[in-house]
Amino acid sequence: MLQINENYLNLKQNYLFSEVAQRTNKYINEHPDKPIIRLGIGDVTKPLTKKTIEALHDAADHMSKTETFKGYGPEQGYDFLRNAVVDYYKKNNVDIEMKEVFISDGAKSDTGNITDLFGPDNIVLIPDPVYPVYMDTNIMNGRNIRFMDANKENGFTPMPYDGLEADIIYICSPNNPTGAAYTREQLKVWVDFALEHNSLILFDAAYECFIEDDTPHSIFEIEGAKKCAIEFCSLSKTAGFTGTRCGYTIVPLELVFKTSNGSEMSLNSMWTRRQTTKFNGVPYVIQYAAAATLSEEGIKECKENIAYYKENARIIASVFEKKGITYFGGKNSPYIWFECPNGMESWDFFDYMLNEIQVVGTPGAGFGANGNNFFRLTAFGSRENTIEAVNRIDKLLS
Ligand code: MLT
Repeated sequence: MLQINENYLNLKQNYLFSEVAQRTNKYINEHPDKPIIRLGIGDVTKPLTKKTIEALHDAADHMSKTETFKGYGPEQGYDFLRNAVVDYYKKNNVDIEMKEVFISDGAKSDTGNITDLFGPDNIVLIPDPVYPVYMDTNIMNGRNIRFMDANKENGFTPMPYDGLEADIIYICSPNNPTGAAYTREQLKVWVDFALEHNSLILFDAAYECFIEDDTPHSIFEIEGAKKCAIEFCSLSKTAGFTGTRCGYTIVPLELVFKTSNGSEMSLNSMWTRRQTTKFNGVPYVIQYAAAATLSEEGIKECKENIAYYKENARIIASVFEKKGITYFGGKNSPYIWFECPNGMESWDFFDYMLNEIQVVGTPGAGFGANGNNFFRLTAFGSRENTIEAVNRIDKLLS
C-alpha cells in the first residue's frame, strides 16, 4: 500500500502567496467594480530591459538555424553564463570559480532543492519571520526545525547566542520580508559561528541589487565563508526575470564535510550529481539573455529599473514616517515592513485594507509567528499605483 509523505500534514493548507491570491480573487469576483492595487507578492511590473530583449531575439534566431541550434545543454548552465556570473561577483571583489556556479531557474527552487544534500537529523535554524520556502521545504522533509526570533528589538537581524545549536542556518539578507540587512560585522559573527560548529549557512542574496551602502552583497565578501556557506541569487528582482526564470547558486569547492564513516564529501560534487540527475538546465534562450543582462550595459539598464522601484519604496515609507508608524526596510530592499496599526493582527489588517481601500499586501503572519502584527508592502508596483495606494493608506489611517 502506498505510504504518503505525511510531513505534508504539518504544512499550512496553502503556500502563503497562493492564499493571498485566493483571498484577493474572491474579493474581485464579489466586487468586480472595485479597482484593486496589488502590492502583495514581490512581482516586478517593469518589462525586461532593451539589452535582455535584444538577446532573447538573437537567441530565438540561433534556435532557428541548424548551425546554431541547441538541444540539451549542460545541467549546470552554459559556460558563457557561468563566466558572466563570475564577472558579476568580481564587481563586489569576490572571486569565485566558474565550477562553483550553477545556473538555476531561480532562487526559490534551489533554496528548496538544496535540502536533498543533507541528512535527516540536522538541526535547521530558520529566522522567524522569513521567506516561507525555507520552512515549508524543511517541513516537507520532516526536518528538525528551530526558529530564531527576528523582532523589533534586534532590528530583525537575529544573532548567534550562547548555547545556540544549528547545523544548517538560513540567512536572507537583505531580508524578505523585513527588508533588514546584516552588516559586514554581523555576517562575520555568523560565519565564525558556522566555522566553529561545523555548520552550513544557506545565504539567500536575492535582493542584493537593492543595496546602496556598504552592506555586503554576498556572504563570500566575508573571510572564511567559502568554507561554510552556499549562496543563492536570482535575476528575478535584479533584472525583472520573475516570469523569465533564471538564477544561480554558488557552491564553493572548499565545502567538504565528513561522513559518518570518516570519509569526506564535497557539496559541490554532490550538487553536480543532484543537478545532473534531476535537472536538465535552464533553456538556452533564457541563459543567453541572462548573460547579456549581466553585461556592463545590461546591469546599467537594470539599475535604472531598480532606482525606479527604490523611489516607490521611498514613497511608501513616507506615509509611515508621516503617521509615526514603525517600519523597517525600504532602503536596501524593495520591501516595507510595518507594524499594523492599533495592535491589529496581520490577516485582519489584510482584510481591512482589501475591504476598505482595495490595496493588497502580504500579512506578516505568513512569514512566521513574529510577523503576526506586521504587514509587508512591495515597491515593485507601477509609480501610479504606488502613489494611489499611498494616498488610500494615508486616508485610511488618518
Ligand atoms: C515574495 O513576494 O516574497 C517573492 O516575490 C516570492 C518569491 O521570490 O518567490
